[in-house]
Amino acid sequence: MKPFPGALGAIGNTPLVRLGRIAPPDAAEVWIKLEGGNPTGSYKDRMAVSVLGRAVGSGRLSAGDTVVEYTGGSTGTALAFVSAVLGLRFTAVSSDAFSASKLEAMRAFGAEVIIEPSENGAITPELIQRMKGRAFALAEAPGTFYADQFGSPDVRAGYSPMGAEIAAALDGRIDVLCAAVGTGAALMGTFDGISAAGAGSKVVAFEPLQSPLLTTGRGGPHRVEGIGVGFEPPFLDRETLTDIRAIDQEDAFAMCRRLAREEGIFCGASTGLNVVGAIALARELGPGGRVVTLGCDSGLKYLGGPLYA
Ligand SMILES: Cc1ncc(COP(=O)(O)O)c(C=O)c1O
Repeated sequence: MKPFPGALGAIGNTPLVRLGRIAPPDAAEVWIKLEGGNPTGSYKDRMAVSVLGRAVGSGRLSAGDTVVEYTGGSTGTALAFVSAVLGLRFTAVSSDAFSASKLEAMRAFGAEVIIEPSENGAITPELIQRMKGRAFALAEAPGTFYADQFGSPDVRAGYSPMGAEIAAALDGRIDVLCAAVGTGAALMGTFDGISAAGAGSKVVAFEPLQSPLLTTGRGGPHRVEGIGVGFEPPFLDRETLTDIRAIDQEDAFAMCRRLAREEGIFCGASTGLNVVGAIALARELGPGGRVVTLGCDSGLKYLGGPLYA
């Protein structure tokens, strides 16, 4: 792909840092890719620029067209940002069940946000189906483009540069890549990038213990935004995985608070969960090994909620 225009050039090339205080001394190294430094504070900027940039590049989408997606927030904010730069309109189908700040962030980038009403703020399968139906109906209109965050191959491809950046920073020596999965695109796409750079690694996926669909077949309610979507992650390639582990969300929340105070890493709950899992793997691997995980987004997105209250 050509270099991204304008503010899109600020996507990627994020820092990869080694945990100094939180990682135990008698364990493998733990490295974390700090993706909160992307323009909208999340690694979702990578998938948004991949999906929309490739669609514009191939002529499937043109300036003035309308991009449509159903979304609870981070993906919508990233699509709204990239749409603004590329001169596209963006319509998000969302709900009052999602955090007001994420809806406001989409509007700040000029998005039209259509609200499907929830019952008392609950995120239910019925609500998601309603949002999806509305988005599909809107995408029928001429001059609209359905971004397809759960199906477009350009979503997974968008994370390949993250893998290339990690491989370059660590001279290709990575023992384990691990991360929690929503769609599975970030974990698998990052692994694709590591592999394309000629480096190998084991790949371990995480999910919340409170919704252990992948490890037990039974999902459930949980409070880690962005992961544990309640269905098989569309981009997760089980053949490639070494292991899938369920991690307690309460440990993830506590880890977020420790990361901020002890390492200066300000993140959301999925990142806390990633670090809890990465440290367990580092203990198993022992000194001399190297574990890499993803810092999905910035803690700024969660101020006002219970995580840092
Ligand atoms: C905060 C956060 N963490 C993790 C994920 C999971 O990423 P992926 O869908 O690429 O598996 C998401 C996806 O929405 C997210 O918003």
